[in-house]
Amino acid sequence: MKKEKIILTGDRPTGRLHIGHYVGSLKGRVELQNADDYSKMFVFIADSQALTDNIDNPEKVRQNVIEVALDYLACGLDPEKATIFIQSQIPELCELTFYYMDLVSVSRLQRNPTVKTEIQMRNFEASIPVGFFTYPISQAADITAFRATTVPVGEDQEPMLEQAREIVRRFNHIYGETLVEPEILLPQNAACLRLPGTDGKAKMSKSLGNCIYLSDTADEVQKKVMSMYTDPGHIRVQDPGKIEGNTVFTYLDAFSRPEHFERYLPDYPNLAELKAHYQRGGLGDVKVKRFLNAIMQETLEPIRNRRKEFEKDIPAIYEMLRKGCEVARAAAADTLSDVKKAMKINYFDDKELIEEQARRFAANQ
Ligand code: TRP
Repeated sequence: MKKEKIILTGDRPTGRLHIGHYVGSLKGRVELQNADDYSKMFVFIADSQALTDNIDNPEKVRQNVIEVALDYLACGLDPEKATIFIQSQIPELCELTFYYMDLVSVSRLQRNPTVKTEIQMRNFEASIPVGFFTYPISQAADITAFRATTVPVGEDQEPMLEQAREIVRRFNHIYGETLVEPEILLPQNAACLRLPGTDGKAKMSKSLGNCIYLSDTADEVQKKVMSMYTDPGHIRVQDPGKIEGNTVFTYLDAFSRPEHFERYLPDYPNLAELKAHYQRGGLGDVKVKRFLNAIMQETLEPIRNRRKEFEKDIPAIYEMLRKGCEVARAAAADTLSDVKKAMKINYFDDKELIEEQARRFAANQ
């Protein structure tokens, strides 16, 4: 029997979503959603996880839940096709996390490369919050609660998926086949795996101020594109320029399509020719940036316009989320019930247990 395909993914609500989220995951999710070859799709706002390193800033998390929901809808996620919900409203996830904690060692968590980097970034070395330290386990609960088979996320989430798979295997080994092993789904295009910031730094991050947000105005996008990091050695137009590490070209790798050349830069048949000219010398940064700006505007305008429409009825978005939480809760409760049964902590549902013990004690009377 073919395993049914269940898609699940989520984002921490710590800021508005940016174009790194878009090419790394959002765009692919909408394509998955519209491909119609899956049985269920869940997309959630990981507010509990966001709190693990923002415990003193709940207002930030609270304000960004709606921002992320708006970004989802603006990108084309459709609540008719995908269940969109908020993590903290599904208490079953906490219960699962607690049981999974016994299946993971402290040293295993310490080896998680993503957690390691985050600990450094947040200067947590001296006093790592236990909740933060164990968030890969809670993430395994997020994934397995919905029996997800397919998790479209960025490359940085690979260690989380590996941790989830280990928990599933361990659980099933000890308690019998209960949980489903998930697979990560990465974007095909290498440039989309980890889009650098506009300053050329390895990652887009709000704290570095190097992001282009999905909700940025046309002017903001243009300013950011025109001041983007390129090749610092490419000083005069006639100088040969470098493509590697040149953010403008990385973005073109991620965003440009053949029809963009026809529309905005008909002198060049494709990206390879544009790159070759830049490398030979004689092609200025401004021309390439103007081209990228045209593409970014074309890509982001419909998203921005849809967002504006959704912003007109915020209560309706909360209502959509509330309904999504109800559906999600039912699904998670179902899995939790299987888990408790497998772990033999389903006392009141187990008539046989009670009857068998009753007989045994009666025989000893
Ligand atoms: N860790 C993810 C991020 O940083 C968010 C997340 C939480 C998630 N739980 C998940 C993603 C489960 C996929 C599946 O954005």
